[in-house]
Amino acid sequence: MPAETKLWNRVEQTAREVFGTFGFGEIRLPIFEPTELFARSIGLDTEIVAKEMYSFEDYDTSELLELLESRKAALTWVDSPVTQPFGPLGAGAQAIFQPFSSVIGNVVRLGLDAFQKGRIPRTPDNERLLADLKDGIGTFVGSLNSRSLSENRQAVNSLKGLVGQLRFGDSLCLRPEATASVCRAYIEHGMHALAQPVKLYYMGPMFRRERPQKGRYRQFYQIGAEVLETVRKEVASGEWLVASAKDAATDAEVIEMVMAYFARLGLEGVQLDINSIGHSAPACRRGYVEKLKAALEKVKDKLGADSQRRIETNPLRVLDSKLESEQAIIEKLPRIGDHLCADCAKHHAEVKRQLELRGVAYQENWRLVRGLDYYMRTTFEITARGLGSQNAVCGGGRYDGLVELLGGPPTKGIGFAIGEDRVILSLQEAGKGGAAQGRDVYIAWMGEKTLATAIRAARDLRQAGFRVELPPVEQKFGKALGQADKLGARYALILGEDEVASGQWTVKTLADGTQGKYSEAGLLEFLRKQKS
Ligand code: HAM
Repeated sequence: MPAETKLWNRVEQTAREVFGTFGFGEIRLPIFEPTELFARSIGLDTEIVAKEMYSFEDYDTSELLELLESRKAALTWVDSPVTQPFGPLGAGAQAIFQPFSSVIGNVVRLGLDAFQKGRIPRTPDNERLLADLKDGIGTFVGSLNSRSLSENRQAVNSLKGLVGQLRFGDSLCLRPEATASVCRAYIEHGMHALAQPVKLYYMGPMFRRERPQKGRYRQFYQIGAEVLETVRKEVASGEWLVASAKDAATDAEVIEMVMAYFARLGLEGVQLDINSIGHSAPACRRGYVEKLKAALEKVKDKLGADSQRRIETNPLRVLDSKLESEQAIIEKLPRIGDHLCADCAKHHAEVKRQLELRGVAYQENWRLVRGLDYYMRTTFEITARGLGSQNAVCGGGRYDGLVELLGGPPTKGIGFAIGEDRVILSLQEAGKGGAAQGRDVYIAWMGEKTLATAIRAARDLRQAGFRVELPPVEQKFGKALGQADKLGARYALILGEDEVASGQWTVKTLADGTQGKYSEAGLLEFLRKQKS
């Protein structure tokens, strides 16, 4: 709503200004991207990719009507109840299962046709699935009589499984974040050829299928920034992932920038947590994760179901747990800081020194691991006041190698994203919300003969940048002033026939009721003076 939008605009405009002073340029990214882009970068075992993405197959329904119908018929097909659960069904099987083979036959026939015409993706997977289905029908029909009921049902299910894997269109999704999109754009537009590093920022809606609550929405807004730097070939041929002192300075400057931004906004209770999660070598994070896993196995019985599951899928995420009963156990687990390789430890120490040089206060938090797989070395999170449990207003970190993973050249990266909804909430809680739109001048015109003058006055005042309300029809004096008051106008310009004839316009200051008379030029001057 307008009063809030004003605050949103200030938050966005301030980002543009502050990020601009650090040399960042804005990039506008698409809302849809291939699902694959996020699956590869964020990681399959993360909550975002496993549970929270809004993805769909992109195809023209009208071209595939029959195929869609036949897929639905195949996937929803069930046999009619039979009483004999054991032993071969004999000739009875034909009557029960023949209909299914013709349903699958339709899928294959229509599927092959659509494949040949390019109406479904001509991928090797689709080609293989259609061939397997074709063969599968033959085997299915040939063995019907010699199989038991449950064996036939199993065969039905495995054919259904193949049908379910057929892709009718490319899988697209509503972006759950934008770092992967920035990397895709970096590769697609050959940005490695630009002066390095490339500094980009973005803002806009992101989508995650989370359980909504205060500060957590399914469509939410991020303001993010990324610094990307392709490593030149001579370095790339060796151990290009080795940290350099330059990297630590970049990390610190990116953090300094977001803290400067929050300070400019007047965000309250801001706290910066930092950590290093090392890099994925056996002598660094991988070794640590093994140790962590072993330690977690020992206390498995005392952990909740989520953490138990994560021991297998993503042990680092156990450290994120907010469960009260797990806190004392987690405190005793091995800490990553004690297991970093020399290179990562040096980088982390340098980031801290650089933050101190810049006067940025931080707190070390060894449990800060973040929920996306692309991070390495520096991770950070910023919290603010007035938000309850969803109090992280910014998350970020280093992601060297992500561009390469997506098919680009060896590139280093560091960035963050701010949860704009949460920043707004925190500012509102602190009483820093926006006021209603308001008006500078309400034109109370009386008498048809004054309308032309009122219209001209409105136009001239608007051109001079004032917010003007010109009532479309004539009003009685009292009603006009009441309306001006309701709209929060500062002045009423009173135009009656006398004013128009004399060229001396009456201006009433609504806050104190004082009145003055001005010529047209004098009015503009008066209003300008009041504004400055
Ligand atoms: P993230 O931690 O997933 O990181 O999200 C960053 C911020 O977005 C969070 O700290 C939070 O303020 C906000 N946020 C996340 N989910 C929601 C939600 N459902 N409702 C409201 N706000 C939310 C990233 O997205 C990374 N791409 C950050 C990054 C950029 N790392 C490197 N570069």
